[in-house]
Amino acid sequence: MRAFFATALTTLLLGSLPALAQQAADSVAPEIGTAQTKKQAGTPVRGKKWMVAIANPYAAQAAADVLRSDGSAIDAAVAAQLVLGLVEPQSSGLGGGAFLVYFDAESGKLTTLDGRETAPAAATPRLFQNQAGEPLKFYDAVVGGRSVGTPGTPALLEEMHARWGKQPWDKLFAPAKQLATQGFVVSPRLEALVELDQVRLSVHPKTAAYFLPDGEPLKAGSTLKNPAYAETLARLSKNGAKEGFYGGETAKSVVATVGSFTANPGLLNLSDLANYQTRERKPVCSDYQEVSVCGMGPPSSGALTVGQILGIAGNFDLKELGPENPESWRIVGDASRLAFADRGRYMADSDFVPMPTKGLLKPDYLSARADLLDSEDGMAMTGDAVTPGDPSWDHAAVDYADDVSLELPSTTHFAIVDSQGNAVSMTSTIENAFGSRLMVGGFLLNNELTDFSFKSHDNGVPIANRVEPGKRPRSSMAPTIVMKDGKPVLVIGSPGGSRIIGYVAKTIIAYLDWGMDIQAAISSPHLVNRFGTYDLEENTDAANLAPELEKLGYEVKIRDLNSGLHGIAIENGELIGGADPRREGIVLAE
Ligand code: GLY
Repeated sequence: MRAFFATALTTLLLGSLPALAQQAADSVAPEIGTAQTKKQAGTPVRGKKWMVAIANPYAAQAAADVLRSDGSAIDAAVAAQLVLGLVEPQSSGLGGGAFLVYFDAESGKLTTLDGRETAPAAATPRLFQNQAGEPLKFYDAVVGGRSVGTPGTPALLEEMHARWGKQPWDKLFAPAKQLATQGFVVSPRLEALVELDQVRLSVHPKTAAYFLPDGEPLKAGSTLKNPAYAETLARLSKNGAKEGFYGGETAKSVVATVGSFTANPGLLNLSDLANYQTRERKPVCSDYQEVSVCGMGPPSSGALTVGQILGIAGNFDLKELGPENPESWRIVGDASRLAFADRGRYMADSDFVPMPTKGLLKPDYLSARADLLDSEDGMAMTGDAVTPGDPSWDHAAVDYADDVSLELPSTTHFAIVDSQGNAVSMTSTIENAFGSRLMVGGFLLNNELTDFSFKSHDNGVPIANRVEPGKRPRSSMAPTIVMKDGKPVLVIGSPGGSRIIGYVAKTIIAYLDWGMDIQAAISSPHLVNRFGTYDLEENTDAANLAPELEKLGYEVKIRDLNSGLHGIAIENGELIGGADPRREGIVLAE
């Protein structure tokens, strides 16, 4: 086996941590960059049989052990997710939601499962507004019960295991139970994030007791036990999701915790939990070069927006231009701005609001959008030109106002391929780092509802992504499987709030157009443009492009861009994996 531990957690080089600013989307990045591992200079890991690329070594090891003992990719994903909820609690867990994109080798079928959180039945479009109908400040909405949606991850894990698991359900809980009971070593990243978030982590007694024992933030290298999580796992493994999480003691504790946080109580009740269901969705695929880029459709905007960026940029010769040419980034940046304009207007939970889903990816529509980039002076598009387009609808068109929701970077992504060729691309989240900051049963509850637009209408026109009872907040998560000739060739995804979309699109372009291996494609500098400001990754070559991009008319910001890309390329039967040097992940393979 070739293990790529970079140089393991002990050699993580802690970077400088930016100070937290107050309530501003662009300056607050709760799950910020904390480290660069030596992977950045590394070569990708190679394997012949199976491979896992996961954000934490404990979780990667748990998944690898499952695959080594002949478990399936789905078994490995369940084991990994249960461990991630313990060792990377700020990013994902049983209190959150996730999307699965899965390729089943035997049937040759790609399936997407939606384990997104839902708004409580009692929620109204004014959930995040004050008495005067004005949007709340972001963290006033996040911290407490108000932002907590019904978790989807436990139901998703059970559903995917029931469909494609090979090993017994309870066996997959063993690594997480053992680590929770015997303890795990706190990583530098967890230490840094706790240190930064002390004030918010101290608002709830259970959260404070766990992350700030004796009033002091957790220390990297210390051993942390979580007996409450072991008990929650025991109930879920023994009784299944319906009785062991969405009913019984865990459900009662979740509802009591959400409702009793008097400073900002939530609306979740026992029937919200009892009624939760995972949904199978039609995969959203878009053609790019010789491949089909497939991922999660609504309520995620991930696959649609990545598909739009690629579909618009694909009208230009990025391969010829190359990664160092500012013209490449003008095309990618403006393609992304146009895609984000459509996203803000049209994308939401299509079970609740009509969407022009097919129209958004039609080649003639994207080609017409690409014409907007073909300016005679080759300058960046002006702000006025970046408006939503007019895609075709399958039914009567609906008028929406533009969305105003914030999505800040946290979340986790993993990629797994097993020896049968089954492939898992799964992105999992509790939204903001440490979610709502409410802890129950040894796990954190999500704040996913703040992915809804806080405003429900603009000048009387409804916003598609407004809060509604039972609705799933729009996501940016983009777990992706790139298919060629009916088989996966690349399994990829990332955390990072709405920047996920840019991280994934860049990695696909770097791999397919610029011929980088998957590790180089992941490690390559980020340049992300969602709303006009061009974000360039600090301390990388991207920052050197600033003067050229400014000459093209962009406002440039050089900043930390904390992706967590994990990917596996499949080339002539060989597995080639990459883990993001910006976090603590590793690739393991055999
Ligand atoms: N909360 C992150 C996302 O769903 O995009």
